[in-house]
Amino acid sequence: MSINIGLSEQQRQGVVELLNKVLADAYLLLIKTKKYHWDVVGPQFRTLHELWEEQYEALTTNIDAVAERVRALNGYPLGTADSFLKNATIKEHPGDLPNANEMVKRLVIDHEQIIRNLREFVDQTSEEFHDEGTSDFLTGLMEEHEEMAWMLRSFIEGEALEGSGQRDKELVSKK
Ligand SMILES: [Fe+2]
Repeated sequence: MSINIGLSEQQRQGVVELLNKVLADAYLLLIKTKKYHWDVVGPQFRTLHELWEEQYEALTTNIDAVAERVRALNGYPLGTADSFLKNATIKEHPGDLPNANEMVKRLVIDHEQIIRNLREFVDQTSEEFHDEGTSDFLTGLMEEHEEMAWMLRSFIEGEALEGSGQRDKELVSKK
């Protein structure tokens, strides 16, 4: 039985292609988040170890939702490591072991790249493909990445604030 949900074949294919890009990035980000959850050391170990566990669980749930949305549009999700690597826009950093701060920075960069992609896809799915359902779905996903990025960014910004607080004290003592 052929699908008849008010979207043309071309519209559905366009949306499926975008969703598969989202899926590929999400899978790579899941791998990177898990690896840092395992590798992280230092005074923030417990906080970051637990935060990344929460985040990779959320990413796992989202990955399933993206793949199943592809099926709901009668498409097929990517499902090989090779295809994820080829379609992802974020990059892996094989063979190195960064410190906790660098791990956080890299993941902020990845989340922000994904947020920028999603912002574009939200408009494209609505304006070019007239698929408001997917546009709404991707908006929710973007908001989740914005929240995850904020939590990670707060680590790095907290350090900058401590530094500037220290500078303020120095300025006061010189007066
Ligand atoms: Fe674990």
